[in-house]
Amino acid sequence: MAQTNRLRKVINVIEPMYVMEGAGVRLRRSIATRQLDYLDPFLLFDHFGSNDPADYMAGFPMHPHRGIETVTYMLVGAVKHTDSMGNSGVITDGDVQWMTSGSGIMHEEMPQPVEGHMEGFQLWVNLPAKLKMSKPRYQEIPAGLIPVLNPEKGVSIKLIAGRFGDFRGPVTDIAADPVYLDVSLDAGCRFTNQIASDHTAFAYVFAGDGEFCGSSVVSTKLVIFGEGDVIEVAAGSAGVKFLLISGNPLGEPVARYGPFVMNTNEEIDQALQDLRNGTFVIS
Ligand code: CO
Repeated sequence: MAQTNRLRKVINVIEPMYVMEGAGVRLRRSIATRQLDYLDPFLLFDHFGSNDPADYMAGFPMHPHRGIETVTYMLVGAVKHTDSMGNSGVITDGDVQWMTSGSGIMHEEMPQPVEGHMEGFQLWVNLPAKLKMSKPRYQEIPAGLIPVLNPEKGVSIKLIAGRFGDFRGPVTDIAADPVYLDVSLDAGCRFTNQIASDHTAFAYVFAGDGEFCGSSVVSTKLVIFGEGDVIEVAAGSAGVKFLLISGNPLGEPVARYGPFVMNTNEEIDQALQDLRNGTFVIS
């Protein structure tokens, strides 16, 4: 693809809204709201973070997913999970779980009390029509397998998925060809990255403040980038921490109902019927 070195200007800044999810988890949502329903291929973006266990201990008891991928990235804390594929374990500080629900998965995500504080993110990535009924798949990446790059002093990049320079993140074979970076810049430091011009790209600023492609942004915000292929960030006086996420848009019709995201309403009805009939999970 042609490389034009065109700066991707900020086209929208989203203020997350507080919602209750699961059995009563308070979190900040910035995709899957009335303000921003869908940022193709991204269906949902949640930031959970609290010092009060009452905000999260109820967790996410057993629930289904079909037609999507759910990506959980823990900054601090621990979430115990089990699923219908027989996986179970604890995702903790810095770990990533990239779950491809395909035709159907049932799972449970229960936060564990770790001295109160817990913080992390969940992203939903849409699957193309041809993969919506694919076999469920699961990649668990412990923090130790995520490369931490320091291209210069005061710049730290955790490379979860996609490419940064000559390096590649450990999450592979995802339909959206995503880039998922966790970037931390000390005060006065700068960051530049190429993002394919056909990708949808956003940053989620979760600490500090900075100039994002020339626009001032203060935490906590989701920043959507327009056309181009270069992202530039300059940290403010307290430094800045953000996720930089991009992926290939699908351009397909979306029929969504809670944890099911398909292309047509008939496919949603089928998912509900499969759930009632006990044929949702194929083993
Ligand atoms: Co789930």
